[in-house]
Amino acid sequence: MRKKIAAANWKMHCTLTEATALAERIAHTSFSLSEHQEVVICPPFVYLMMLRQMLQQKPHFHVGAQNCFTESSGAYTGEISASMLASIGVEYVIIGHSERRQYFGETSGMLARKLDMALQHGLKPIFCCGEPLEVRQQEAQNAYVLTQLKESLFHLSAEQLARVIIAYEPIWAIGTGLNATPHQAQQMHAFIRHCISEQYGTQPAQDITILYGGSLKASNAAELFACPDVDGGLVGGASLKAEEFKQIINALSAAH
Ligand code: PGA
Repeated sequence: MRKKIAAANWKMHCTLTEATALAERIAHTSFSLSEHQEVVICPPFVYLMMLRQMLQQKPHFHVGAQNCFTESSGAYTGEISASMLASIGVEYVIIGHSERRQYFGETSGMLARKLDMALQHGLKPIFCCGEPLEVRQQEAQNAYVLTQLKESLFHLSAEQLARVIIAYEPIWAIGTGLNATPHQAQQMHAFIRHCISEQYGTQPAQDITILYGGSLKASNAAELFACPDVDGGLVGGASLKAEEFKQIINALSAAH
């Protein structure tokens, strides 16, 4: 059975006091997660070690970074490499979030390189894709997402791909309160799985975890997770409220 994941993307939120309080509330709650269900918390870099220590003994809980650089080490002031993340026990890394593409000029070529780095150092990348509003309005979202997959992902071998998680995050749904409907999410997730199948074959397509992201919250998690090709979510705003995120984790454990 493929892995089902509730991932929290804290983005650039929380002071140390706030991050500790939020993490403690999640860490001190017990959830009934099955073998194939996981929770991944992606805080800002500065809180990764704290989160890792707090969650180390908690089964099914993992820590992820929100980004990594295209090189392993060197004179790149201010950057953080995949090898550094691996060295402190981080297991996941988000690659290609639309905010990084938009505000930091990350190109598909850079993302391909970041994926290589993450995989080379044993991290599991959560690769984000998704179309902007104008593309959705022209009903050109499938071609847009396929290009993103081709340009950043399809150079990987099947063995490498097996360690990648895909997150479909339509840009018009991120932070807007306007989530994709379960029908829209299911259609795109099935399309992504179809593209993986064309490139890598049926089994890799069946095995790959595809998360939905974009205004996912406690009130819509169950219906989104009920879609056959939606394997969990990448949650921004709602992951900053402990009660809300706990309900999302519970929705995941109940759904799959
Ligand atoms: P949101 O963000 O849940 O606040 O819409 C999702 C994301 O950007 O990963």
